[in-house]
Amino acid sequence: MSSRDQFASKIGFILAAAGSAIGLGAIWKFPYMAGNNGGSVFILLFILCIFFISLPVLIAEFMIGRRGQKDAITSFKEQAPGKPWYLIGYMGMIMAALILSFYSVVGGWILSYLGRALLFMLSAETTAYGDLFNAIIQNPFEAVLTQGLFILMTILIVQAGIKGGIERASKIMMPALFLFFIVLVVRSLTLDGAIEGLRFMFVPNWDYLNGKTILLALGQAFFTLSVGVSVMLTYASYLGKNENIGGAAINVAVMNIIISLLAGLVIFPAVFALGFSPDQGPGLAFVIIPAVFEQLPMGGFFLILFFILLLFATVTSSISMLEIVVSIAIGDRKASRIRTAWIGGFIIFLIGIPSALSFGVWSHITILGKSIFDAVDFLTNSIGMPIGAFFIALFAGYYYSTHISKQELSTSPPLYYLWLALIRFVSPVAIAIIFITGLLAA
Ligand code: PFF
Repeated sequence: MSSRDQFASKIGFILAAAGSAIGLGAIWKFPYMAGNNGGSVFILLFILCIFFISLPVLIAEFMIGRRGQKDAITSFKEQAPGKPWYLIGYMGMIMAALILSFYSVVGGWILSYLGRALLFMLSAETTAYGDLFNAIIQNPFEAVLTQGLFILMTILIVQAGIKGGIERASKIMMPALFLFFIVLVVRSLTLDGAIEGLRFMFVPNWDYLNGKTILLALGQAFFTLSVGVSVMLTYASYLGKNENIGGAAINVAVMNIIISLLAGLVIFPAVFALGFSPDQGPGLAFVIIPAVFEQLPMGGFFLILFFILLLFATVTSSISMLEIVVSIAIGDRKASRIRTAWIGGFIIFLIGIPSALSFGVWSHITILGKSIFDAVDFLTNSIGMPIGAFFIALFAGYYYSTHISKQELSTSPPLYYLWLALIRFVSPVAIAIIFITGLLAA
C-alpha cells in the first residue's frame, strides 16, 4: 500500500490486523511459555490479561490510529501538539524493529524446516526430533542465511504494498491453517496418554502463581495481539472512518486465543504421550509438531503444507513490524517506500544476527543470565510492550475527552463505559503493578 492508501474493505482491515496478530506468538511462543511456566496457571493468566488489559489497549490503538490517519509519530504529534506523547511512536518503532530482529530468526527456522520437509529429510525417530532441531539452530551459517531470507521475503512484500495479494491469500491460507490445527488436535488427543496433556493445560498447579509468571503472561498477551508498539495503530491509520473498531478488536483477540489454545491442544497431549518434556523452551513446537505429523498417514506430505501455511502466518506478522518502521521513515516526506523498506530491513537483519547466533557459536554470551535471543525477547515483551501499552492507555483514557472516545468507538453505551473503565482504571493500574512486581521477581 502506498503510504496513505486506505483499506478497500472492512474485511481487508480485519484480515491485516488478524494477520499481524496471529503468527508465531500463538503457535510457537504460547506453547513454550505455557510449557515453561506450569501450563494451566499461565494459560489462565494469559486469557485474563488479554480481556482486561491487552484488548482494551488494542481498541485504544485502533482509535488513535484511525483518528490520526498518519504514521505513529505524526498521529501523536498532530493530536497532541507540543506534548511528548509522540515518544510512544518512537519507542514503538524501535521495539517493533527489535521484535522483528528475533522474530526473523524463528522465521528462518521455519524456512530450514520447510526446505528439509520438501526434500523429505525431516523424518526422524520420534525422540530424535530434538537433536534435529538443535542441529539446525546451532549451525551459524544456516541460522543467519535463513534469517536473512526471511527478512528478504518481508521486505519484498512491504515494498510492494500489503494490499492485493496478501489480502486475497489470507482468505484461503488462514482458514486452511485453522483446519490443519483441528486435524492435528484430533490426532494428538487420540494418542495413548494424551489425557496428561489436558491435565497440564487445564488443572491449575498454583505453585506457579507468582509475579514472574504474571509478567510473562502479560507480555504474551501484548505480543500475541501486537499491542503496545503502535503497529496496530499504524494499520488502523489506513482505515476509513465508518468501521466498527471495537468489533474488529474483539474478533482479533478471540481468534488469537482460539489458535493459541489449539496449538496447545496439539502440543501438550503429544508431549506427554510421546515422552517429551513440556519445558524445553523455544524448540517445543518445532520438535513436537513434526512428531505428531509422523503419526498421520501421508504425514511427510502434509508437513510440507503445514510449514507453508505457518510461514504465511509468520510473514503476515513480520510485515506489520516492518510496516511501522517504513511508514514512519516515509512520514509526509514522500520518501521512496522501496528504498526505505530495503534499508530498514537490512538494518534489522544486522541487529538480528547476534540473536541468530545465540543458539550456537554465541551461546556462551549472556546478558543478566539470559542468552542474547532471550534478552531481546524479554526487553521487548516484558519491558517495552508494557510501557508502550501503559502510555497508550493513558492517552486514550485521559488525554482524549470522553466526547472523542465515545465518537470513535461508536458502540452501545454499556460497552463504551466498560471499555472506558478498563482503559482508565484497570489496564494502566494492572500494567504498573504487574510490571514492577514482575521485574523484581524476574
Ligand atoms: N503478534 C505477532 C505474533 O503473535 O506472532 C507478533 C508481533 C507482531 C508482535 C507485530 C509485535 C508486533 F508489533
